[in-house]
Amino acid sequence: MNGKPMTTIYDNRAYRARILHLVADPAVAGEAAVQYYEDGVLWIQNGHVHAVGPADQILPLPYQVSVREYPNHLIIPGFIDAHVHYPQTAMIASYGEQLLSWLNTYTFPTEAKFRDAEHARHIAEIFLDELLRNGTTTAMVFCTVHTQSVDAFFAAAKERGLRMIAGKVLMDRNAPADLLDTAQTGYEQSQRLIERWHGVDRLLYAVTPRFAPTSTPEQLQQAAKLLREYPDVYLHTHLAENHGELKWVKELFPAAKNYLDVYDQAGLVGERSVFAHGVHLCDEECQRLAQAGATVAHCPTSNLFLGSGLINLDRLRDQGVNVALGTDVGAGTSFSLFKTMDEAYKIQQLRGSKLDPFQALYFATLGGAVALKLDHCIGNLAPGKEADFSILDLDATPLITFRLQQCSNVRELLFVLNTLGDDRLVQATYALGKCVHRRGGHG
Ligand code: GUN
Ligand code: ZN
Repeated sequence: MNGKPMTTIYDNRAYRARILHLVADPAVAGEAAVQYYEDGVLWIQNGHVHAVGPADQILPLPYQVSVREYPNHLIIPGFIDAHVHYPQTAMIASYGEQLLSWLNTYTFPTEAKFRDAEHARHIAEIFLDELLRNGTTTAMVFCTVHTQSVDAFFAAAKERGLRMIAGKVLMDRNAPADLLDTAQTGYEQSQRLIERWHGVDRLLYAVTPRFAPTSTPEQLQQAAKLLREYPDVYLHTHLAENHGELKWVKELFPAAKNYLDVYDQAGLVGERSVFAHGVHLCDEECQRLAQAGATVAHCPTSNLFLGSGLINLDRLRDQGVNVALGTDVGAGTSFSLFKTMDEAYKIQQLRGSKLDPFQALYFATLGGAVALKLDHCIGNLAPGKEADFSILDLDATPLITFRLQQCSNVRELLFVLNTLGDDRLVQATYALGKCVHRRGGHG
């Protein structure tokens, strides 16, 4: 460990504030899933959680441990953004198109700029600043087809000590020529990137075919070959987002039973597979996702912005599909998981259903970690986990201060934060126990 013997405690700090995290899925465990301490202490040693609990049980601490007091602040685990495109930071909020024309009009020209490594490094820093400003400490990230876009992203994430999953886009048809690889070069480049980055510090690799229309069956098969050769890397792609896309997939893959079957026939559907969107799935596809232990990354701000549709979260839950939340920037309109939870709630309202605030927080924290098979190290503040968390200022805005005065329990408080919250709430963000963002200042 950084050349220090394991017995040396080089980071021994505690934070006293309100603390909220989930220790199970509220859909299964109910209120027992929720741990909330009105006056809590989070004790960090060596970048990991050493203890968490009510102040009257944990205090006093040994004299060597410095305790920082945060009155009227709330500590929560770092958010997990299960689907986002770092190269699209520069084109968030681009007007007027639905998915397929949005890709051609805005996305492909923006991504073409990532052939320039310097540009990629610049955007990677802006992107990571935004994640941390919003309390997000882990994300599953699309790069572009260029290997230098992946190198730039992982190097920037490594420098900040973040746990990140990312990969090179695979695209060998139906995109501009300067954005295409081939089944063979895509395979070889991905292989080199896996060897270079997967498992380095906190970094993990995802094999990343953009979506079925931009890969030939041969490329999808090469992607599956990588998954067989490196069984602990991820598969990350898009699925069933938009009606025009569904129609196109049917034309391109006439032999497939449904959209998911295109990926399944190639060997891409497994427990480390994350499919963004899944708005328009049939029962058979939901059953197959559940059986495989695969994940749908629900991206509400994107689904509304591109007019893609209103996902049925109840059906996914009833059928046992893992669900996580993604911002999907730049089709998504915010880096904030608070904004994302807010829009997720509204989508279920439009369907005549309700999204419980604890369930939303679960999707954005422990549920995301479970989906990404990372719940042994992140997702909540249980002792032994990597200390990724944020400290929220419950007086971030006059309206939040005023509205929280009317709340009589933590469920109400959380729902207000989910609905009114954004980056202004996030006073500080910590990764592996180290402060990586402080609002309006340093250190
Ligand atoms: N489907 C294929 N590529 C993309 C993309 O970049 N964004 C979204 N939202 N959907 C896609
Ligand atoms: Zn996307």
